[in-house]
Order: sequence, then structure tokens, then C-alpha cells
Amino acid sequence: MGNLLELQGISKSFGDDIILSDISFALAPETVVAIIGQSGGGKTTLLSIMGLLQKATTGRVLIAGQSVECLSPHKMAKVRGQYLSFVFQRARLINYLTALENVIAPAWFIRRGEKVEQQAKALLERFGLSHRLEHKPQELSLGQLRRISLARALLLKPSILLADEPTNDLDPALAEEVAGCLLGARQTGTSVVIVTHDLGLAARADQTFRLADGTLHAVAGQ
Ligand SMILES: Nc1ncnc2c1ncn2[C@@H]1O[C@H](COP(=O)(O)OP(=O)(O)OP(=O)(O)O)[C@@H](O)[C@H]1O
Ligand SMILES: [Mg+2]
Repeated sequence: MGNLLELQGISKSFGDDIILSDISFALAPETVVAIIGQSGGGKTTLLSIMGLLQKATTGRVLIAGQSVECLSPHKMAKVRGQYLSFVFQRARLINYLTALENVIAPAWFIRRGEKVEQQAKALLERFGLSHRLEHKPQELSLGQLRRISLARALLLKPSILLADEPTNDLDPALAEEVAGCLLGARQTGTSVVIVTHDLGLAARADQTFRLADGTLHAVAGQ
């Protein structure tokens, strides 16, 4: 099977500010890739272009071999729903739903008939959140919100999971649990791109890249 996601000559500017410059990248099936780099360097911007949430200034994005530039917003949303799942740097949960409902909501529509509630509870238990199932986002800590976002993304069993600093705000034991889940996802058919400042986590990925001065370089030794 070919690459799940490809970037060809991606550049991104905000006004005169060049954030990304001629980036090419390919994500193979069942692979974990880490992206490291300075704060403000453009990692979140790059991830949002991979996830079709933001358009590049120039260049092409291909998902499962299909170029998405010419797709209508409706078709693009479909591709996003079919292939992609996100863990955002700032957790975006629905405020009026409980933790458990937030995890279940997207999977409920996509994986109808499957035991999503049971699986959601198992994931939340794994992430140490069994005692917070009925709490709403405003009653939860940043680390708890992050774990709920990750459970929500994993429950969708996506082909591509994009995770922006997923181990931030977590104590070492929970960070390890989350890292284990992300690294293990490749065994169940998910490719993962992790943006992280955690060099230990990055070293455990199949490949690591550094984003610096707008360009992406493979880190030697991997
Ligand atoms: N919509 C926007 N308009 C203007 N500038 C933007 C916009 N989005 C991001 N930027 C700028 O692009 C640069 C890269 O931001 P980005 O969030 O991608 O960095 P990052 O590498 O994820 O940083 P961090 O590690 O702190 O999360 C920053 O200087 C930011 O101010
Ligand atoms: Mg960021």
C-alpha cells in the first residue's frame, strides 16, 4: 500500500511571515513519526495542514494518494472524517457533554452498532479517568482534558492520528500510558504523527523530524 499522507512542496506564510518553506513529507501505513522543534516554529501549523484544517499557501496535500486541493469543502470534510483524527494542543471538547459522552460522540455516528461505550470506558480507565466519566470539561484539569481528547481520537480507529503535544500536562506515569497508546496504535492499523517537545518520546517513534527555519529535516540516527 502507498503512503497514507503526503506533502509536496508545502509552504505557508502569514502576511510577510514565512512559517513553512517547501516541505515534503510522506507517512507510510502503520508508522509513528515524531516532529520536534522550537516553540513558534510552525509545528501546529504543519499538523493542521496535514489534517486539512488549514490550507497551505503553496504545495499539495495527498491523502491515500488523492490530492485534496481541488475538493469541495464537503468532500474535504468527508476525507477528513474517513482518514483523520486529531488530538489538539488545546483540547476542543463539547462543553455541555460529560467526559464519557465527549469520547463517544464522534464514534457513535461512524461506528454505529459497535460497543463504543464499552470501549470508551475501557480507554478512559486505562488513562486513569474512571472517576471522572460524568464530569463536564470545565470541571476537569488540562491533563484530564488531553487524555479525553486522546481517547476520543483513538476510539475512531483512524488511519491517521495527528497528535499535538499529547503528553503535555501529564505526570510521568500518565505520559507513559499515553505514549504507549500512541506508539501501540501502529499495531492496529493507525499511523501517528506526534508533535512533541519530549525527546524521549520522539526517540521511540519510527522516524523523527526536526522543524527548524521553516524546513523539515530527518533527525540522524533513526
Ligand atoms: N493564523 C495565524 N496568523 C498569523 N500568524 C500565525 C497564525 N497561526 C500561527 N501563526 C504564527 O506562526 C508561527 C508558528 O505557530 P505554530 O503554532 O505553528 O508554532 P508551534 O511550533 O506549534 O509552537 P508551540 O511549540 O509553541 O506550540 C508562530 O509565530 C505564530 O504566531
Ligand atoms: Mg504548537
